[in-house]
Amino acid sequence: MKFKKKFDELSPFKIIHHNIDQKFPIHVEIDPTSTCQQDCIRCSYKQNIDGKRDYIIHKQNARLPYDKFLDLIDELKTIGIKAITLSGGGEPLIYPKIESIIDHILTSGIQIGVITNLSTKIDTGLLSKAIWVRVSLDAASHKIYETVHRPKNQNAFSLVCENISSIIKKNDSIDLGVNFLIQPENYSEIYDAARLVKKLGAKYIRFAPVIATDHIDYEQLFGECDSLLQKSLSLIDDQFHVFITKERFNSLKKNKKNYSYCYKQKIHPLIGADGNIYPCCLLKYYDRHILGSILNDTFVNVWQGEKRKDWLSKLDVDLCPPCWFDETNLFIEYLLTNNPSHVNFV
Ligand SMILES: C[S@@+](CC[C@H](N)C(=O)[O-])C[C@H]1O[C@@H](n2cnc3c(N)ncnc32)[C@H](O)[C@@H]1O
Ligand code: SF4
Repeated sequence: MKFKKKFDELSPFKIIHHNIDQKFPIHVEIDPTSTCQQDCIRCSYKQNIDGKRDYIIHKQNARLPYDKFLDLIDELKTIGIKAITLSGGGEPLIYPKIESIIDHILTSGIQIGVITNLSTKIDTGLLSKAIWVRVSLDAASHKIYETVHRPKNQNAFSLVCENISSIIKKNDSIDLGVNFLIQPENYSEIYDAARLVKKLGAKYIRFAPVIATDHIDYEQLFGECDSLLQKSLSLIDDQFHVFITKERFNSLKKNKKNYSYCYKQKIHPLIGADGNIYPCCLLKYYDRHILGSILNDTFVNVWQGEKRKDWLSKLDVDLCPPCWFDETNLFIEYLLTNNPSHVNFV
């Protein structure tokens, strides 16, 4: 049987390829720096989303010390980590010596993914060796990009588009996709952005709702953008996909969780630019979720240490914020269920 190209990069079922009971995580996300050369109007790291984080991450001027960063990569390699995502916090690609860091990760054999605004001069040949790059674009024109991203560099929008083309030219099999956070200021460009991104050669565009502390009437917004989202779906073909991440739309409503435990924290923790290890991206930079620090300890010691044990003993998924890993957790819980019901009635 011949399978269609599936665009399954964001599937919650990927965990089936791994042993859930392994000692260490599979994937670690790292914020090299907390600073950014842009000032997105609703960047999650400058908002106090749930009223419980009263400082702005970007203003912390935190940055992983270079030597500690290299040591960390070596340690992660030793304990069998398969993949590292570079993200933020701030903008990962403005970290000084980021190219040496990427080179070190690649040399160690760990796979690399990058979440970036891509509006910086960078060795696109090196970046094209990543497994995937996801670019935060959120616009289809210079004007709307300026409104939503408020970049310091006036040529930022064209630089991002040039960098996207350049990476793809150097490696056309890279999974380079674009993220578009839907908000009142940019939703009119939904379809144009999908067209632009397809023309630039990206593999996909992903539409997700922005999480905001200012009041957004999501019902009204989604009503207004629905026809543009539907129109964008018409651009899907064998080479290009449009994702509308419904779980993110749903997760904005605080639903009671339909699983009993968070497995995601065990397979995909994060390391902030402050050197602290956090259980997941939603709990990142909250003091009460710090598991330990790589600035004064090893990753392994923190992972197996008392502080993390204590955090795990208090873990109650119903107290977690709305989360977009519900499907992953639900799937893992099903995999771990003893004697699931009616398995033969497939
Ligand atoms: C905070 S950014 C840091 C990395 C990089 N500077 C960038 O913009 O891609 C990481 C991811 O968070 C997303 N993000 C930022 N603010 C958000 C918000 N208010 N709601 C939902 N996602 C958000 C961005 O689109 C990006 O995919
Ligand atoms: S580019 Fe990324 S880190 Fe910078 S302000 Fe925008 S969302 Fe935040």
